[in-house]
Amino acid sequence: MYRPPQRIRHNLPGPTWPTKSQAEVSTLFSPIKLGKTSASGRSWVPAMVPWRATASGEVTQDVLDWYQRFAKGKPAVMVVEATGVGDIPSGPLLRINRDECIEGLSQIASVVREASGGETKLLIQLIDFLPIKRRVTAEKFLTRYLKWTHSHQQRIEPYLVSGETAKELLLRMPELCDVVLTKRELEDMRYGYRQRVTDVDDSYVRELPVRLPELFAQAAKRAVAAGFDGVEVHAAHAYTLASFLSGENSRTDGYGSHRNGRLKLPLAVLEAVRKACDKAIVGIRMLAEEKIRNGIALDDAKFYAEHFAKAGADYISLSTGGKFEDAKQPKVGRAAYPYTGPSGYECMPSVFSDEKGPFGRNLVAMAEIRKHLRARGLSIPTVASGGLCDFQQMEQLLTAGHADFVASARQTLADPDWFQKMKRGLGDTIRRCDFTNYCEALDQKHEKVTCKKWDRLADSVVPVDKLTGRKLTAP
Ligand SMILES: Cc1cc2nc3c(=O)[nH]c(=O)nc-3n(C[C@H](O)[C@H](O)[C@H](O)COP(=O)(O)O)c2cc1C
Ligand code: SF4
Repeated sequence: MYRPPQRIRHNLPGPTWPTKSQAEVSTLFSPIKLGKTSASGRSWVPAMVPWRATASGEVTQDVLDWYQRFAKGKPAVMVVEATGVGDIPSGPLLRINRDECIEGLSQIASVVREASGGETKLLIQLIDFLPIKRRVTAEKFLTRYLKWTHSHQQRIEPYLVSGETAKELLLRMPELCDVVLTKRELEDMRYGYRQRVTDVDDSYVRELPVRLPELFAQAAKRAVAAGFDGVEVHAAHAYTLASFLSGENSRTDGYGSHRNGRLKLPLAVLEAVRKACDKAIVGIRMLAEEKIRNGIALDDAKFYAEHFAKAGADYISLSTGGKFEDAKQPKVGRAAYPYTGPSGYECMPSVFSDEKGPFGRNLVAMAEIRKHLRARGLSIPTVASGGLCDFQQMEQLLTAGHADFVASARQTLADPDWFQKMKRGLGDTIRRCDFTNYCEALDQKHEKVTCKKWDRLADSVVPVDKLTGRKLTAP
C-alpha cells in the first residue's frame, strides 16, 4: 500500500451524528429521482469485490450472506461488485457472461429485496478487463517468454564474447537488459505481462470496439432478467473501458489519441446498454481524475461526463485514480495491483496521508463535474466517493450541491448498519472505519475481504457490535 511521504496521521472527521429528528429533515435521508424511478435517500454502497464467488464466478452462499448483510442496513442504493461480462479468468470474481448466470444472480436480487424490505435499489457493476499475468523470475522471462528478434540480436552483438549465447549473457549481466530489451519487454519482465488496449497487433484487442458494446448489452439484459433495478458500466480505475478513456490511450484507429477517440468505445457501450434495458437504471462509474502522468484531468472528465449524460445515463458515479501505470512492482509470483501506487492511494486513501488528508480529498473535482453538468442544463445525479464517513461531512456535500449521492465503501464495510443507526439517532453506536486499509490488503491478494473490526469475532459473516455485543442487524 502506498503512503504519501509526509506520513501525517489524520483523525477521523467528527463524529457528528444526527438526532432522529435531524435525520428526518436531512438531505441524506430525503428521496431523489433516479432514472425512471426514485431512491429513498442519498446513501450509496459502491461496488466492492469481496472475492466470495466460485473460481468460475458463480454465486455462493457466502456471496448471498455478504449482500444480505449489507441490505439489512437499508442503504438507498447498493451496487454489487464488479462482475465480469467476458470470459477472461480472474479468480472468484462474479460473472454475468452467460445466461446460466441469471439464476444465481437472481438469488442476490431476492435476498437483498427481502432484507432491505424493498428499500434498497440494487444495481450490478459490469466490468471487462484484459489478461494480466503474475510476475516471473527474470530467468524464466528471458528463457521462456521473450521472443528473440533480429533487433535484439543487433543490440546485443557488441557485448557478446565467443561461446556465450545472448540469453546467457543477459542472465550474467542483467543491466544489459536495459540496452537490449524494449521498454515494454522490460515492463513485462519487471512487473509481469499485462495486456493493454493499445496492443492492437493482437486481434482480440484490436476488435474490442466491435465486441464490447454487445457483450455489455447482453450482460445488462441478464441483470434485468435476474431482478436487478439496473446496471453500472464500470469505466473507472484500471480496466478496459477506463483504459480507453485514459490519457495513455494512443490507439490510432479512431478509438484513442484524442478525447473524442478515447470516448468513442465507452460511449458506444453505454448506448448499447441503454438500448438493451430501456426502463432499468443505467449508470456509469468513471474517474474525476486519473492522477497519473499523462492521465486524464478534470477537463477531460467534464467532457466525458457531459457525453455520458447526453447519451442517457441515469447517474454518474465518480471515483479517482486506481491505475496500473504507477502500481508497485509485484513480488515474483504475484500480479500487479492497481491500488498500490500514488493513484491507488487517491482511490482508497488511508489515514496516513499528506496535509490534505484522506477524507474527501478528491471531492472538489467531483463537485466541479456536477457544476459543469448543471451549467449545460443536465440534471443527472452524481455520486461522490472517497473517505466519506461522517454525517455532517456528507450532509454539507449534499446541501452545497456538490453531489446528489454519497458513496461509502469502507465505512459501510466496518458497520453495515451505519445509515440506519444515523437515521434512528443511534449514531454513537456506529462502529467506525479507521481507514488503515486492512480490507484493501485482502483485496490485493484476491482473498476474501473482511473488516479487521469484525473478522475475528465469532460470526464473521454477520458481524457483532463490540460495544453492545449485539449482532449487527438493523436496529
Ligand atoms: C475491498 C474493496 C473492493 C473494491 N472493489 C471495487 C469494485 O469492484 N468496483 C469499484 O468501482 N470500486 C471498488 N472499490 C472502490 C470503492 O468502491 C470506493 O470507490 C473506494 O473504496 C473509496 O471509497 P471509501 O473511501 O468510502 O472506501 C473497492 C474498494 C474496496 C475497499
Ligand atoms: S478493514 Fe480497516 S479500512 Fe477496511 S473497513 Fe475495516 S476498519 Fe475500515
